[in-house]
Amino acid sequence: MLNAKKIVVGITGGIAAYKTILLIRLLKKANAEVRVVMTPAAEAFVTPLTLQAISGNAVATSLLDPQAELAMGHIELAKWADMVVIAPATADFIARLRVGMGNDLLSTLCLATSAPIFIAPAMNQQMYKRSITQQNLQNLVNEQGVLCIEPESGEQACGDTGVGRMAEPETIFEFLTDYVKTAQDLQNITVTITAGPTQEAIDPVRYISNHSSGKMGFAIAKAFAERGAKVNLIAGAVKLDTPQNVKRFDTLSAIAMEQKALELAQQSDIFIGCAAVADYRVKEVATQKIKKTDDSDEMTLTLVKNPDIISNVAHLAQNRPFVVGFAAETQDLQKYAKSKLQRKNLDLICANDVSNGQVFNSDQNCLHLFSQKSDKILPLADKSKLAQTLVNEIIKLYKEKQ
Ligand code: PMT
Repeated sequence: MLNAKKIVVGITGGIAAYKTILLIRLLKKANAEVRVVMTPAAEAFVTPLTLQAISGNAVATSLLDPQAELAMGHIELAKWADMVVIAPATADFIARLRVGMGNDLLSTLCLATSAPIFIAPAMNQQMYKRSITQQNLQNLVNEQGVLCIEPESGEQACGDTGVGRMAEPETIFEFLTDYVKTAQDLQNITVTITAGPTQEAIDPVRYISNHSSGKMGFAIAKAFAERGAKVNLIAGAVKLDTPQNVKRFDTLSAIAMEQKALELAQQSDIFIGCAAVADYRVKEVATQKIKKTDDSDEMTLTLVKNPDIISNVAHLAQNRPFVVGFAAETQDLQKYAKSKLQRKNLDLICANDVSNGQVFNSDQNCLHLFSQKSDKILPLADKSKLAQTLVNEIIKLYKEKQ
């Protein structure tokens, strides 16, 4: 289950740090790629050299180490990770994580990652029982989606007996494996997603397009793929890396995108139109570069309507998938989104406010979802997190319709 998974193991300053060596060995045995990040306090319990030998990679210890940043900067490391596992997680680290501090490499990495974060708390039983620690843990788990591998009860290194011993490495390993297993719950689903802008040629060197970056659509593709779905991603003019386990088809014009969309939609359970498709294209594309003329200050291009890709998918008489559209609006968001939901025959529409240059090419978005029966707001969040929540909503409605 953990084969080829990229796992950051964070170690904070607790005596249980010695057990993390065994956890790393288990992860390596399962063919996971492991990179270790230590807080300064952790170095008092285990040495970076030991962890380097066990993990097979250099250990990162400091946010301000130019050498380490050169090798793999903290943002790069945060993006690299499929999972971040903090074992042991001390009371101090848990408190810092809760309030979003970035005062060492590990806490900064946690802020910068969109990967799931797991913590294995380890501390004195009184510290664990303390109401502030419990509040911090509850906030992390309930509000911030952090996954907690509960500590065990027993005799502690300090001589006390109670709850606070870090879960055994085998238990942590099993927790991670189970997470990945259940995270693969969409293996029987095929999804086709369009993303990014189309480019409509004017002549061999010019085109009509828009500001879409593809980030929203790519994030949705990644979120589906992480849950085991088979994902087709039809990209317009997008310069982003293809998410893992996603089949990408590059297109430029609306006509080319429509052709691929109609072909793949009929083999899909769900179709999501996140692309910003140009509504019009130039009627006659010049075969040579259009020259500037001296006799007029104006130039006229005749445009014709492009096919409405999502509407054509949603009106398929046979093999129609569950269809999710987007609505990019600068005014009257609800009114226009609801009318597109009906007119295009969609099952769900995700409306976003794109006035004032928001959303396009931004890393964050918020969505107002409208289905035939209900509506729901998904508040402002990183597009990767938002995509994960959106996948849950889509799957819920898709299952209700079956
Ligand atoms: O790519 P990013 O920078 O991350 O930005 C994300 C986004 C703003 C592009 C995205 O969130 C979004 O709103 N995508 C839809 C943009 C759009 O074209 O909206 P629309 O309201 O014009 O179109 C409504 C729906 O019809 C969309 O699902 C669109 O894909 C589809 N459409 C539109 C025209 C057309 N000819 N064919 C279509 O399929």
